[in-house]
Amino acid sequence: MAQYFFEEQEHTAMYQKYRLPSPTEIYDLILNYLQTKKEEPFTLAVDVGCGSGQSTRGLASHFEKVVGIDMSEAQVEEAKKMDRSDNVSYRQGQAEELDFKDGSVDLITVGAAAQWFDLEKFMKEVDRVLKPKGCLGLYCYTVPCILNFDDCSETLAQVIQDLFIELKLYETIATKRVWNEYSDVFDAITFPDKERAEDIYITVKKPVSWFVGYLSSSVLYQTYLREKMEDAKAFMENTEQRLLKAMRVSSDTVVEFRIKYYCLLASKPE
Ligand SMILES: C[S@@+](CC[C@H](N)C(=O)[O-])C[C@H]1O[C@@H](n2cnc3c(N)ncnc32)[C@H](O)[C@@H]1O
Repeated sequence: MAQYFFEEQEHTAMYQKYRLPSPTEIYDLILNYLQTKKEEPFTLAVDVGCGSGQSTRGLASHFEKVVGIDMSEAQVEEAKKMDRSDNVSYRQGQAEELDFKDGSVDLITVGAAAQWFDLEKFMKEVDRVLKPKGCLGLYCYTVPCILNFDDCSETLAQVIQDLFIELKLYETIATKRVWNEYSDVFDAITFPDKERAEDIYITVKKPVSWFVGYLSSSVLYQTYLREKMEDAKAFMENTEQRLLKAMRVSSDTVVEFRIKYYCLLASKPE
């Protein structure tokens, strides 16, 4: 199963290097939603599939207590190393068996992890542990696109498309859920009060080498690498060269990327 990559120290370190912290726009969206649905106090937020804490840390200033849960020991250890906030803790655990009392949680967030969950079991647990009117925020993102290279944008799009055609062989149910922007995850949410927030665009500036590292850290590419190491390496090197040639820049040139996020929001009935 693809998510077992996250059990490996090497993949965890790579993930920590190439993945971005969840953007403030996403936290604002989820917190505003919570405020419209439920009255304060907000005592407990739980971030499920927290990885190395990229999606957890930003919740710290809004709740008395924040807990990050991940099935991977390696990810939890990495998260503990990175986090110094007094009110944030991390522990190993399964999304399908949340270690919290009934009706004790104000907010559950999941960043880029719900695609791997057993959604039926997860939703039963969400329903059990949330307080009445407590909220759920699930979000993920699409592949970044490079901005400000209008004269070669078609070539850049083609290079990325070629990469994903090559990786199609390694597709799983989880990656398909990401491609279809969580439409089946939305259907699996059992609360009648649910909505989808679209078109949340974040712009970041990073070297081209980061972009290539980002693509390489994807579970799809890591599967390719594991199964056909030499082919996979050659393919990614070729991908990088094609991008650099089209843009006429070097791999340490900082360029602008735009990442589209999507977010599902739901509130437990009273
Ligand atoms: C792509 S990472 C996302 C990490 C972080 N939330 C972020 O936004 O970058 C997905 C994480 O989900 C965890 N995961 C996958 N299935 C899980 C499950 N059933 N229960 C708990 N964690 C799970 C993996 O171990 C991995 O750390």
